[in-house]
Amino acid sequence: MASKKTLPITRPTLEPFAAYAPLFKKTIASGMLTTAGHVREFERRTAKYLGVKYCVATSSCTAGLMLVCKGLGLKGEVIVPSFTFSASALPLLWNSLTPVFADINPKTYTIDTKQVEKLITKKTSAILATHVFGIPADVSKLSALARKHKLKLIFDAAHAFGSTLGGKHIGVFGDAEVFSCSPTKSLTTGDGGIVATNNKALAEFVRLGRNYGDDGSNDILFAGLSARMPELSAAVGLRSLQKLPANLKRRRAAARYLTVQMQKIEPILHFQTVPKGVETTYKDLSVYIDPTVLGYTRDALHDFFASRGIMTRKYFYPPLHRMRAYKAHHDSVNALPVTEHVAKNVLSLPMYAHLTKVDMNRIIKTFKEFVYARKKN
Ligand SMILES: Cc1ncc(COP(=O)(O)O)c(C=O)c1O
Repeated sequence: MASKKTLPITRPTLEPFAAYAPLFKKTIASGMLTTAGHVREFERRTAKYLGVKYCVATSSCTAGLMLVCKGLGLKGEVIVPSFTFSASALPLLWNSLTPVFADINPKTYTIDTKQVEKLITKKTSAILATHVFGIPADVSKLSALARKHKLKLIFDAAHAFGSTLGGKHIGVFGDAEVFSCSPTKSLTTGDGGIVATNNKALAEFVRLGRNYGDDGSNDILFAGLSARMPELSAAVGLRSLQKLPANLKRRRAAARYLTVQMQKIEPILHFQTVPKGVETTYKDLSVYIDPTVLGYTRDALHDFFASRGIMTRKYFYPPLHRMRAYKAHHDSVNALPVTEHVAKNVLSLPMYAHLTKVDMNRIIKTFKEFVYARKKN
């Protein structure tokens, strides 16, 4: 068989160099490589897009979360999902907070609000929920819980720049929402993050905190980070923001096409549920392979795709409570049955705005080949 080019799981959708050149030129001419005009413009425009008072650009989502946890003065325990990316809870460890892992909803894969309520103790200071693959956590139930128990509410919105809930953009909820602008995300700056908040004091804390905790006096106020967004990154982000509506449209159309075509081959195939009133970024298109129903495993499908040069990812496997960094914080490994099950059985398919019809048909044809080979046996 002629070897085909490997189809990546994702790629940033970039424009020709000429689109960036005037912005890059401005930066080079100014000699200001960090926290200058492009960063300020990026913060202004992202805040306007989201409908939130403040956006503060950082070097990453992880750094943004670290500063938000510190700025909100969290203490003791923070309830987080285990089915999320490793970096969702690393900021807790950096702030000497204890992650308390909650299970997830089996359809949306977002944190199970009923379990969250059961896990709240006198030591709990916050809930940190992830909008998984772009699908928002149950914001209204979590907000009600946070209000009732006087907890801070933070969203790891790494996947969700451009997701909406009831017509509102993700970014306006909770005490803060923190986005990632790494290359795999809907809005990219290369690497980077955005802290979105309506809390002026928190925004100011993050602004100082990304710059060592220095208010300009050199008399450092608190233990900050070196976590600024470079100007050239913000320039890439400004272009990415401009192209976001068109790129989201293409991602959603690609997800629809892949879902419908794969379900034609395997009618009982499930994908992550997009709840009513939600528009997702499809940071990932995640398919659920229930081996007891389908007769084959997620791992077998992953390996088959790989043998045909199609990259897929086992997100999020292992879940956090199985990772060495977090093990000390979770002694009862059987307490998260949905997380355990979902982590073993879901697979993220290639997804990006410039995924072509040819690419998608290659994925579909390969899936068909895989399914039919198993049905014959
Ligand atoms: C859910 C989630 N949170 C946090 C991060 C960390 O983002 P960053 O690389 O910008 O720190 C990622 C990265 O992919 C992620 O998927």
